[in-house]
Amino acid sequence: MINIPKGTKDALPSEIYKWHYIEECAKRTAERYGFREIRTPVFEHTELFSRGVGDTTDVVQKEMYTFLDKGNRSVTLRPEGTAGVARAFIENGLQGGVMPFKAYYLISAFRYERPQAGRLREFHQFGAELYGAEGAAADAEAIAFADRFLREIGVGEAAELHINSIGCPACRAKYQEALRDYFRPHLGDMCPDCNSRFLKNPMRMIDCKEEGCKKYTRSAPRMLDYLCEECRAHFEELKALLDGAGIAYEVDPSIVRGLDYYSRTVFEFTSDALGAQSTVLGGGRYDTLLVQLGAKPTPAVGFAAGLERLIMLLDALQTPISEQKPDCYLLGMDEASRRKAFLLAEKLREKGIACETDLMGRSLKAQFKYADKLGVRFVAVIGESELAENAAEVKDMVASSSVRVKFDEIAQYIKGGM
Ligand code: HAM
Repeated sequence: MINIPKGTKDALPSEIYKWHYIEECAKRTAERYGFREIRTPVFEHTELFSRGVGDTTDVVQKEMYTFLDKGNRSVTLRPEGTAGVARAFIENGLQGGVMPFKAYYLISAFRYERPQAGRLREFHQFGAELYGAEGAAADAEAIAFADRFLREIGVGEAAELHINSIGCPACRAKYQEALRDYFRPHLGDMCPDCNSRFLKNPMRMIDCKEEGCKKYTRSAPRMLDYLCEECRAHFEELKALLDGAGIAYEVDPSIVRGLDYYSRTVFEFTSDALGAQSTVLGGGRYDTLLVQLGAKPTPAVGFAAGLERLIMLLDALQTPISEQKPDCYLLGMDEASRRKAFLLAEKLREKGIACETDLMGRSLKAQFKYADKLGVRFVAVIGESELAENAAEVKDMVASSSVRVKFDEIAQYIKGGM
């Protein structure tokens, strides 16, 4: 017996309606904001992520599925979607096109993490990216889009929005100096990760989860006190737009995000219903990523939500999701009727009706039981007398009624036209 790799999951046919539900909400919401889908490769040259996501991040240092292909090139299964979209935008010359550029994606992503509830090695994301707009209205639109998506699927009430600004490279440099001055006397007491981040990226020390470190990070200097005039105005404008749109948020100075490309706005939607992996959606502005990858300066903002975490949340909240069921089961009582049921099923499908008939040689009783399990509204029973009349006895399982309907009128009857 070969087992599924650790940290991966099957999405079985009995559960797939939840995935379809989320994907349809995602597409519908994206359309309302003028985002169109983009599809990029599952693997990219490793350098895209080490340069794009940042080589001081956990994702790049510890979590990437990197391997040499048969041509000896180092390739990596995408750990997220943003870098691939940026590469595609540049490579396809879309910088010369109409701005803003807006694209969304539904992808699988891969990170070699320690699996736990809500944390997988292969997971799925719905993400969106918006390029070319530097004003806070773009950040507000990305957040409003994310918020509407969560409300559309029915988890909006259970997710809280946290926002922060991590400034631009200029003001952040001053802040990082202040952080080093603050943490320097405590380094001996702090974890190895914090020690290695101290030089390269002290801001990441702030979201360290080690209890021993938290007692220092709690009263560390806050980026918000170091924002330059432009970054402060940008953040104020964002808050005013969110206030105006009635989108509730909390300013949370501890949000720094785990990927290197962010500047100014960062945000996360979290839910208490999720346990340790409480972030369902994260994003922010990243004005320097496209330049770093070789484009002309192009401001950018976006977000991604984890689909497995959204499903966990839907389950925890017991959100009702309607499941697509076949419309009709065609039940043949004897051999000749079974053959008729098979042919009639094909005719009904031709007319757009979802139906099933017996493939298992089940008895009459067992066929009724199966139809009941399918949850169909109609069962069309065909026996000797029905065959002679070119009709079926159509039982409406909801109304508990039954009516004789000519074979060539069944489609119309089921569609409610009779
Ligand atoms: P991220 O915060 O790394 O951001 O991931 C976004 C979401 O993906 C998380 O909030 C979480 O729901 C889900 N996620 C991440 N890792 C895992 C995992 N191992 N297992 C299950 N779910 C996971 C990004 O990926 C950025 N690219 C978002 C972005 C787009 N920023 C700007 N544009």
